[in-house]
Amino acid sequence: PHFAVVVVAAGSGTRLRGGAPKAFVALDERSILHHALRGVFMARPAQVVVVVPAGHEATALDVARDVAAGDTRPVDIVAGGTTRQESVAAGLAVLRDDVDTVLIHDAARALTPAAVFERVMARILAGAVAVIPTVPVVDTIKRVDVNGRVVAAVDRSELAAAQTPQAFRVSVLRAALNSVEADHTDDAALVAAAGHDVVVVDGDAVAFKITTTPDLERARALLAAAPL
Ligand code: C5P
Repeated sequence: PHFAVVVVAAGSGTRLRGGAPKAFVALDERSILHHALRGVFMARPAQVVVVVPAGHEATALDVARDVAAGDTRPVDIVAGGTTRQESVAAGLAVLRDDVDTVLIHDAARALTPAAVFERVMARILAGAVAVIPTVPVVDTIKRVDVNGRVVAAVDRSELAAAQTPQAFRVSVLRAALNSVEADHTDDAALVAAAGHDVVVVDGDAVAFKITTTPDLERARALLAAAPL
């Protein structure tokens, strides 16, 4: 398949208090977006789309050029929306006509290994229409009511934590975005709500999402221990 990667990096990162939009917060001498794009370019997509907060397009283009280092594959930078779903839609809007499969990837999962991209793509090649990487849930999960009381045990063996990149046939994701009303926290939930089978492949613990300050510190420590 002809595939594109849409990197959503338009979050404000208010939980990080990094002073800049999250994608531009530094991990080592390079930003979250820079590290995220390294994995993306290693997957050799036909097109890369980076979705950033409005006003940060020029900075993002500099980062992409730096990572691409002479690679001539098309890179498009677009402004995102107020929700992740709007940012995904903004990225899909600029996909080239020959792209039939799209991988939606959170820039915040900056250390995602290339092998995860490869596993996801292999499942698409094997005929799946929607593929997500997951990792086992290590915590014991409780369902809690509004009064702060545990109401039910949840069987951990039936749970998996979803990561990105999440891959979809472009036509399937576009149709799901148009037909499903509610805002979902990931694209696979949209596609599943539209009635499609979503299959899983192994994710990677290192593909965790940098959301809080401890996550940021963990990413920095991993890079300090094993510089890329
Ligand atoms: O907010 P959260 O951590 O769930 O965001 C996941 C990813 O979605 C991040 O990479 C973030 O930049 C992106 N996002 C976006 N547009 C938004 C909100 C989040 O591109 N409006």
